[in-house]
Amino acid sequence: MQDFALKGNIIYSKSLGQYEIVSNGYVVVSSNKVKGVYHELNLPIKIIDYGNALIIPSFVDLHVHAPQYANMGLGLDKELMPWLKTYTFPEEAKFKDLDYAKKVYKAFIKALWKCGTTRACVFGTIHKDATVLLMDLLTQSGLGAYVGKVNMNRNSPDYLIESTENSIQYTKEIIEKYDNQYELVKPIITPRFIPTCSFDLLERLGKLAKKYHVPVQSHLSENYGEINIVKTLHPNFKNYASIYDKAGLFGEEKTIMAHCVLVTDEEIDLMDKKKVFVAHSPSSNCNLASGIAPIRKFLSRGIPVGLGSDVSGGHRLSMTDVMVNAAQVSNLKWLETNHNLKPLNTAELFYLATKGGGSFFGKVGSFEEGYEFDALVIDDYSLHHLKPLSLEERLQKFIYTGDDRNIIARYVAGKKLEEPK
Ligand code: GUN
Ligand code: FE
Repeated sequence: MQDFALKGNIIYSKSLGQYEIVSNGYVVVSSNKVKGVYHELNLPIKIIDYGNALIIPSFVDLHVHAPQYANMGLGLDKELMPWLKTYTFPEEAKFKDLDYAKKVYKAFIKALWKCGTTRACVFGTIHKDATVLLMDLLTQSGLGAYVGKVNMNRNSPDYLIESTENSIQYTKEIIEKYDNQYELVKPIITPRFIPTCSFDLLERLGKLAKKYHVPVQSHLSENYGEINIVKTLHPNFKNYASIYDKAGLFGEEKTIMAHCVLVTDEEIDLMDKKKVFVAHSPSSNCNLASGIAPIRKFLSRGIPVGLGSDVSGGHRLSMTDVMVNAAQVSNLKWLETNHNLKPLNTAELFYLATKGGGSFFGKVGSFEEGYEFDALVIDDYSLHHLKPLSLEERLQKFIYTGDDRNIIARYVAGKKLEEPK
């Protein structure tokens, strides 16, 4: 691919809470990667001029359930465990049917593209064929993703359960076939959560992760009802995280734990030691009455954090909606902790939605040299035409009040992506 540059108002983040802003500048792309951001450019390369638009790194969703897409907005007047039983498990069982899977997964991918999420860590279902289909469709779309076949072998309804042998066998088959098949779409080991996985299954998944160097994603300490079940199932473990840890699923390979709302200080020490990523999913945590995760505490410890829509625990796929939710709950957390855990400001949330989550993928989510060029072009004229705003304010206004109609172009790893079919 020939080198090229995008011209516009460039905003990105190198570190938590810091904007890098170059107005009317150039971001130069060479071999799919960012070469640099410049005020002036005298290179004989193609320039795509986006005028007064904003150019920002595209969004990363660190936790989302593709098969729950058709359930978005349903059943959210229930808590986690009844919601899983009543709405989520019956829906996921439908993915045995590949025609249904194709219909939902195509719509899901289109929606991701639309709202400017270009990398995602995705849960599938227990079904191998539907999970492979999801990987194929994502690759066709050009989006980047980790995709997990979900493992669940106990405490699950008989229409959505698998034997330990099948669970391991199908997971292994996917890893062997898909670990090196696609550039941007990769497998990830995905035990659903402790209640639905026997310890034997967890240990065997831990061994697979180690053998193939495959990353891991799951849920941790999301909701009181769930934690009580975990305590009953594993009375001899000192906490929830230590069960994953004992099974080799807690940071031996790179690991994401969604939620971490109710983690203890001991669990936080372990998350820090193992550099486990937190996927903060505030919309879901509000909907399912889970609570408010202590994100400021994680950040001040240096624990890596990204944002997750957690559709359909979350009711919106758009990461700008999740950023706003994260800001709102962080304000409440600040009040709840007697002003101890400071609110997250917009610059910090922008970092989390781009480089914070992106770092799980490698050099993703920034315009620093060597980063894969993932970008959105935002035409926000409709949002700022009434009075002059600084570039920082324009970004803030887009995050709080803009939507997919403002996104006029999406790039992933240097390639412009058209709307998936
Ligand atoms: N814990 C186990 N499964 C799920 C799920 O599908 N969504 C959420 N939010 N939490 C879970
Ligand atoms: Fe989830």
